[in-house]
Amino acid sequence: MAQNWLSDKLPYHRPEWLGSSDNIQPGTPVQPPQYRTLQSSDSPATSYDLGTTAESWKYFWHPVATVKEFRGHTHSGKGPMSTVLLGQRIVVAEMGGQIQAFDDKCPHRGASLGMGWIEGDNLRCRYHGWCFDSKGKCVDIPSLGEGDPIPARAKLQGYDCQVKYDLIWVRLKPGADTSIPHFPAWDDPEMTCIPGEPYLWPCSSGRRVANFIDVTHFAFGHQGTLGGPPHTRFKPYPITQLEGRLEFNVDTFLAFNPGDATYGPPSGPESVMLGPGAYHLIMPFTVVLFFKWSETRSTQIFMHPTPIDAENCRSYWFTCHTNDASPDQEHLALQSIVLTQDLPLVASHVPRSIGGPHEEISVPADKPEIIWRKWMRELARAADKGPETLSACLQEKAEY
Ligand code: FES
Ligand SMILES: [Fe+2]
Repeated sequence: MAQNWLSDKLPYHRPEWLGSSDNIQPGTPVQPPQYRTLQSSDSPATSYDLGTTAESWKYFWHPVATVKEFRGHTHSGKGPMSTVLLGQRIVVAEMGGQIQAFDDKCPHRGASLGMGWIEGDNLRCRYHGWCFDSKGKCVDIPSLGEGDPIPARAKLQGYDCQVKYDLIWVRLKPGADTSIPHFPAWDDPEMTCIPGEPYLWPCSSGRRVANFIDVTHFAFGHQGTLGGPPHTRFKPYPITQLEGRLEFNVDTFLAFNPGDATYGPPSGPESVMLGPGAYHLIMPFTVVLFFKWSETRSTQIFMHPTPIDAENCRSYWFTCHTNDASPDQEHLALQSIVLTQDLPLVASHVPRSIGGPHEEISVPADKPEIIWRKWMRELARAADKGPETLSACLQEKAEY
């Protein structure tokens, strides 16, 4: 069963600009907006993980919606749909046969274009009806007198936008050598991929990544699913840094088997269930987790927590397995329990984004996160110097 991990019990604040948007042409049924952001205070934090700013992470691709969400958002199936990426409001719309992303700000008076509608290949603002073509150029201003010119500056700021893995990906800043993370299972005819419902958590993207790659919390945070005492020790794994990602193997996950079809039949309350596994941590925020059960049987999990702002992320994910006849529900069941166990723990972290290097205490078993944090800081410093320096930093190789 698909679940929405945005708990209604969490304190959230729906921005007024979303609440007032019905995204429809007059006279058609109201489609409620899909997105809400969680904010911890009236003045949103601007310090991203490890003291970085949003600017560094704008050079990377992030999913902003599933294609399914986008298609269902308006009656046209073409948007417009407003969302927030790295604290910035953007609008996604299909224009000229392509899904595109623009600044969600009409250049006339700054109204949200997500409240407008699609007309043919164009997007019309609901406020005074200015109309923009698929290149973002204003092509109609209804209030103009006969012969009055359309101001040359009347253009929308566009962003890189691509569809991959049935997700809409946006990159706010071009110039660096970054690409949409590779997920091998997606194009593998031997694999079946099941999309998970995206979930919005009140924590930074970094907090979510750290939680995902952290195996030492299994014995405590995941008692009864991924582990339990006395399986508390994990040796520090060798970690390889190459081409924008970290790779490390986990020999064995000591874990309980809930009887989920993904992992075979139940085999006792303290069975060894998972492993060996391999993590690929694609910088900055994508995790791909591989499990190989036998020559013919494997599982891959993909997860990318998109930074909505410094303190909120929305995770896009899927779980893929070698082809068999098992129902999707069985493959989602374990994930569902694990996420339910993780959410209150991760949502409780103070601060909601990772602080400076001396603010928390790490031990050798935290090695994957220590190495990831180090590279994150280096990437942010490199990004400050410009996209070329950032690209070079992404190419650096190392063994830890
Ligand atoms: S604010 Fe968009 S047309 Fe005026
Ligand atoms: Fe967890």
